[in-house]
Amino acid sequence: MRAPPQPERVALHEDADVAMARKQAREMAADQGLPRLAAEALATAVSEIARNVIAHAGAGEMSFEPAFDGEHAGVTVIARDDGPGIEDVARAFRDGYSTANSLGMGLSSARRLVDDFAIVSAVGTGTTVTMTKWARPRRRRDAIPVEDRLILLIEDDRGDEELLRRALHKQRVAGRVDIARDGVDALDYLFARGAHAGRDPAALPHLILLDLKLPKLQGLEVLRALRTDARTRLVPIVVLSSSNDEHDRSAAYEGGANSYVNKPVDFVELLDVVQQLGSYWLTLNQPPGMR
Ligand SMILES: Nc1ncnc2c1ncn2[C@@H]1O[C@H](COP(=O)(O)OP(=O)(O)OP(=O)(O)O)[C@@H](O)[C@H]1O
Ligand SMILES: [Mg+2]
Repeated sequence: MRAPPQPERVALHEDADVAMARKQAREMAADQGLPRLAAEALATAVSEIARNVIAHAGAGEMSFEPAFDGEHAGVTVIARDDGPGIEDVARAFRDGYSTANSLGMGLSSARRLVDDFAIVSAVGTGTTVTMTKWARPRRRRDAIPVEDRLILLIEDDRGDEELLRRALHKQRVAGRVDIARDGVDALDYLFARGAHAGRDPAALPHLILLDLKLPKLQGLEVLRALRTDARTRLVPIVVLSSSNDEHDRSAAYEGGANSYVNKPVDFVELLDVVQQLGSYWLTLNQPPGMR
C-alpha cells in the first residue's frame, strides 16, 4: 500500500516563488486527474493568493494536499502568513478594493475560480486562505454567495419592512438588507447622494424589492428613474405590491420591472415567496457582467 501523500510546501518570498506555486498546483492537479481547465483555474487562483501573501504580508508559505471527499479527487491549497491581516474581509473581496493601489481583483477572482474557498484573517496575526478545486464540482455554486448578497427594500410600511426583513434573513436570501422608506430616499441611496452621500455608488444591490405606493415619489417614478440611468438600468427590480390591479401591473412591466409579485398577507406564504424570489434572482439568474 502506498503511504498517504504528504503535503508539498512552497515558501513565498519573491515573484519567482509564485511561479513555483503555480507549477506545484498544476502538477498536483494533473496527478489528481483534474481536467485541464480546472487545473488552470486552480493555478490562477494560487498565483493571486501567493501574490497577495508576498505583496501584503511580505512572506508566507503555501501547502498543497491531495483531497478526496469519498467520491471525487481534488487539490487543497492552504496559504499562510503572519502579516498584518485584513481588517474587513468582506470589503477586501469587493472588486476594486485595494490597499495597494492595485486592481483589487485578486481575492474575488480566486474565490470564483475554485470550488471551496475560506479565509481566516486577524489584524496583527496574519491570514490563512484555504481553497479546494475538485475534479468534478460537487454542487452547483450560488451565482452570488449568500453573505455577499445585498438587497434594497423600498418600503414605507414598517410592518411590511419587518416581515420582509425577517423572511429574507430566515430564508438566507440576503446577507444584508438595506431600506429606503420613500422614493426620494431610494434614489438618494442608489445614486449615493443626499443623506446617502457617503455611500459607494458602485456597491449596487443585487436585487431591489419595490413597493409601488410610496410617499414623496411613487414607485413607478422610482422605476422610471432607475431604468433611464445607465448605472442602475440592469439591476433586477421586483415589484412587491398589495394591489392586484391590472393597470398597476402593466405599468410596472412597462416601466421596466423584472417581475411583479403580490405581497402575501400571511407570513408563511411570504417565506415561500421570498425563497422563490431568492432562488430565481440570486441563484439561477446570471446577470450580465458577472464573472
Ligand atoms: N495575505 C494578506 N495579508 C494582508 N492583507 C491582504 C492579504 N491578502 C489580501 N489583503 C488585502 O485585501 C485587499 C484586496 O486583495 P486583492 O487581491 O483582491 O487586491 P490587491 O492585491 O490589492 O490587487 P490585485 O490582486 O488586483 O493586484 C488587498 O489590497 C489587501 O489590503
Ligand atoms: Mg491581490
